Amino acid sequence: MVLHGRSGGNSLDYADFYRGKTVLVTGHTGFKGSWLSLWLESLGAKVVGYALDPIYQDGVFGVTNLGKRIVDVRGDVRNLEELRNAFSEHDPDVVFHLAAQPLVLESYDDPVTTFTTNVIGTTNVLECVRKSNTPITVAITSDKCYANKEHIWGYKENDELGGVDPYSASKSCAEHVVNSYTKSFFSGKDIRCASARAGNVIGGGDWSRNRIVPDVMRALLAKTPVQVRNPSSTRPWQHVLDPLNGYLLLGARLSENDRFEGPWNFGPTHDSIITVREVVERIIRMMGEGSWNDISGGNAPHETRFLSLDSSKSYFHLGWKPVLDIDTALRFVVEWYGSYNSSDAYVLCKSQIEEFMALSKKSSPHIN
Ligand SMILES: NC(=O)c1ccc[n+]([C@@H]2O[C@H](COP(=O)([O-])OP(=O)(O)OC[C@H]3O[C@@H](n4cnc5c(N)ncnc54)[C@H](O)[C@@H]3O)[C@@H](O)[C@H]2O)c1
Repeated sequence: MVLHGRSGGNSLDYADFYRGKTVLVTGHTGFKGSWLSLWLESLGAKVVGYALDPIYQDGVFGVTNLGKRIVDVRGDVRNLEELRNAFSEHDPDVVFHLAAQPLVLESYDDPVTTFTTNVIGTTNVLECVRKSNTPITVAITSDKCYANKEHIWGYKENDELGGVDPYSASKSCAEHVVNSYTKSFFSGKDIRCASARAGNVIGGGDWSRNRIVPDVMRALLAKTPVQVRNPSSTRPWQHVLDPLNGYLLLGARLSENDRFEGPWNFGPTHDSIITVREVVERIIRMMGEGSWNDISGGNAPHETRFLSLDSSKSYFHLGWKPVLDIDTALRFVVEWYGSYNSSDAYVLCKSQIEEFMALSKKSSPHIN
């Protein structure tokens, strides 16, 4: 079905909004934050990053030399004093809060760090926003903030929050923090805040353990067979640039009107929901070599049904839509891992952002 977003907005009409603005990105040394920082830098923003040291030297932050291109502040979001100093020194116009402990398995090993980083960290960021009257904030949570009812329908922004594992629970708590600060402190002032919920994303420069695409790329680059635990599981696959496009658009929309406050879903289209086996085989075909082994033993444990998101609200009210289909998303991934260390990785990332923007201009809106 081809429809036009109610706002009539082109998803790239924020291109001028960020030029000359000071934008604080927490989590800029990580996977999504480094892509977002590069994109903002290319839009002419003065980007200030605030995060811990990068874990993987071959991530986008390291290979693009991002630390030299933006203001690179190393600090902990759990430390309110350090965070306050960053806000008062740089006086941001816009904040994108991405710093988090983002892994479910890690959250079982270290629930305290997960909760303090994701909940107290978010509270500290919003407290600095409150004290410094920062006009616009987009807090990145997750699709896992919803109570998973294991149903097939996409979750809407007004569905029940929940989450059983510590990571998911911490992200639903972060949603409550955003809602509380917005209604208790920001309402009626020129401080606008929204939360953004997206699912698992893929893209160049993610090396996190126990995520499928990084595990596949690590094996293929080492010329060893990919060991696949759950080939028949289906997942929604989305390139990192798609939700980032949504965050950028949301930040710009917030500057127009406070009706853009509140939660927003940014999910992939239904035809991007395919099995792990299909993804592994398509990546191997695109790489031109490699093999994989099924190590499920035919009795993979029951998996919780993945959460899918209903992004109608973002489509109709923000004018946002996913741009990259699954094959283009995988092509971007294979291109990145195949050439990041043999070419100029900064040029590679910028050219993927430019291609994304060109495709976005061409694609016609459709509903999830
Ligand atoms: N990657 C995904 O598939 C995905 C899916 C849904 C939501 N998210 C959310 O997107 C955001 C970014 O995720 P990512 O995949 O880029 O994660 P990542 O692990 O690659 O990056 C996390 C960033 O947070 C920073 N950080 C962690 N603890 C910190 C602390 N105490 N103080 C300051 N900085 C700290 C790290 O230094 C890093 O810069 C997170 O909020 C995550 O929950 C990610």
